[in-house]
Amino acid sequence: MLITIDDVLTPNELAEARRLLADSPWISGRVTAGTQAAQVKNNQQLPEDAPHLPVLRRLVLGALQRNALFFTAALPLKILPPFFNRYGGDANHYGFHVDNAMRLLPDGSGYVRADVSATLFLSDPQTYDGGELVIDDTFGRHSIKLKAGSMVVYPSSSVHQVMPVTRGERVACFMFMQSMVRDPGRRRLLYEMDMALLQLRQTLGETDAVVSLTGTYHNLLRQWAES
Ligand code: NI
Repeated sequence: MLITIDDVLTPNELAEARRLLADSPWISGRVTAGTQAAQVKNNQQLPEDAPHLPVLRRLVLGALQRNALFFTAALPLKILPPFFNRYGGDANHYGFHVDNAMRLLPDGSGYVRADVSATLFLSDPQTYDGGELVIDDTFGRHSIKLKAGSMVVYPSSSVHQVMPVTRGERVACFMFMQSMVRDPGRRRLLYEMDMALLQLRQTLGETDAVVSLTGTYHNLLRQWAES
């Protein structure tokens, strides 16, 4: 299941993120890739010791925290601190790969299992050519290029790539998270049920059936969630 969420960042947050990123150092993106991924990864990334990284991470995590659609789509349990990358010039693409399953926290305190990946686009799509995120899932191949401040959420288990950027620069934030619900099929059912319930609540109000189905949603989540 692949979900796009518009306007995760406010215009002010987007401007602030861009200002901080323009004033940041970049290094080769291979540092966080696994052995297979490193062979096809050719982009740049903000290093862990970049001075603005803590502020940038707080900004993105704060935006995620207030986003109800993100919560119901990902059911996040642990979110690895967000990373930032840049594609352009000679470092302009990332070939087909699957994200590493286990990610060490930057402070070395433990692992996060990557169930859900997300890319938050930070560059205006008109300012660069290429750079589509191409995701293969059970429903086919999807090519994604979103407006700045919007995000795509997809299963970490999918094979994906970033197409070469042939003009301009594509700057983005990418994230890995462990979901309370490990199985993507179950996550999908819960998401679809929650979205249908939202619609029913808007059109019918809190009828007995809506209340009952809402209870079923939570009871399913109780069955499937790990914390
Ligand atoms: Ni990836």
